[in-house]
Amino acid sequence: MELVVTPAVPSIQRARRLVGKTLAMRDAAPADAEFILGLRIDARKSRYLSAVSGRLPDQQAWLERYQHGSGEAYFVIESLAGHPLGTVRLYDAQGPSFCWGSWILVDGCPSGAAVESALMVYAYALDTLGFTAAHFQVQRGNESVRAFHERFGAVLNETDEHEYRFTLSLEAIRASMRRYARFLPGPLMVEGLQ
Ligand SMILES: CC(C)(COP(=O)(O)OP(=O)(O)OC[C@H]1O[C@@H](n2cnc3c(N)ncnc32)[C@H](O)[C@@H]1OP(=O)(O)O)[C@@H](O)C(=O)NCCC(=O)NCCS
Repeated sequence: MELVVTPAVPSIQRARRLVGKTLAMRDAAPADAEFILGLRIDARKSRYLSAVSGRLPDQQAWLERYQHGSGEAYFVIESLAGHPLGTVRLYDAQGPSFCWGSWILVDGCPSGAAVESALMVYAYALDTLGFTAAHFQVQRGNESVRAFHERFGAVLNETDEHEYRFTLSLEAIRASMRRYARFLPGPLMVEGLQ
């Protein structure tokens, strides 16, 4: 009898902590509301992100709901010593493809933090969760972030008056992980997969 193996459809799970080379990512908690709100109401940082309420209790409530929900993973990016440096979120799984965004780094981050945090997202999504492609949107005008993704091999699929929509194939992600391996030389350490 022939054995048919059906590949499991990957899903986005949270993890307590991911550890890279110089950065860690920690599952976001209501106690992070003040830090996150500070980034999200910074007009320059959040110019190309969707608007959030500027009230701390709303941000705390959002993080409470996030902690009890499923299908997304929201991380505070921090130094290995635990100093908060930004945020990033994986969400909207569509079959084998995951979406990521809500990506912000504070000013004065160590050079290399952008590339390392992107590599950590891809390593987690591919090697831990089993995704084989990525998709995301970049708002029109956010040209430096558009260029960043294109250097990683993102392909512009659709565009409208508000945003560019990109996809990234498995081959392109793997090629970038190899090309930029100096930013994340070892395997990503995953603690507390939920
Ligand atoms: C998105 C964000 C986290 C990216 O971080 P960033 O530091 O601006 O990223 P950069 O593209 O400038 O790259 C940082 C450094 O890595 C370098 N770098 C970027 N891509 C690289 C690559 N593929 N290979 C080698 N180096 C690279 C850059 O040259 C830069 O070097 P420098 O610090 O010596 O100048 C940051 O711009 C941010 O917080 N933006 C506001 C929020 C936002 O718009 N988020 C995106 C929504 S989708």
